[in-house]
Amino acid sequence: MEANAEPKMPRRNMLAWLSVLLGGIGAALAGVPIVGYLLGALVKPKADVDITLGPVEQFPVGETTMVTFANPLRQQWDGMTANTAVYVRRLQGEQFEVFAVNCTHLGCPVSWFPQSGLFMCPCHGGVYYADGNRASGPPPEGLYRYPWKVAGGQLSITGGHLPTLQDPV
Ligand code: FES
Repeated sequence: MEANAEPKMPRRNMLAWLSVLLGGIGAALAGVPIVGYLLGALVKPKADVDITLGPVEQFPVGETTMVTFANPLRQQWDGMTANTAVYVRRLQGEQFEVFAVNCTHLGCPVSWFPQSGLFMCPCHGGVYYADGNRASGPPPEGLYRYPWKVAGGQLSITGGHLPTLQDPV
């Protein structure tokens, strides 16, 4: 064998193939989310589910109570962010109103102030009356409402997605 014999695969060719291989791997990794996004439109959204908020007696008549629960459509990696809340207002007997905590402006969680009977948003000063209607500030509408029902003495809502202005009231 000659001392100056050319290697079977010149270094330049090997680097070119390595570049193509690494580029292909990179493109595949970058393409996964894009393909997922494109195919996501074909996947049916998960159906809403009933979320039990608790026994009716837990909610005093005439008061507004915050109830927290884990979003049933959470992902494993959601952690604490899977927890959400609603405000339950018991009007009388088995008559309720259930409001999302998220402001209809940009979604900040609103706080209930029983002394003034108002929901207030800390972000831009949005204010809502006790019945969820808009009082003042930038929110375009009153608080979103969840459909609710009482069965077997338990109050539950239909949830899984956040209500929006497009949902029927
Ligand atoms: S997010 Fe509530 S007022 Fe802007």
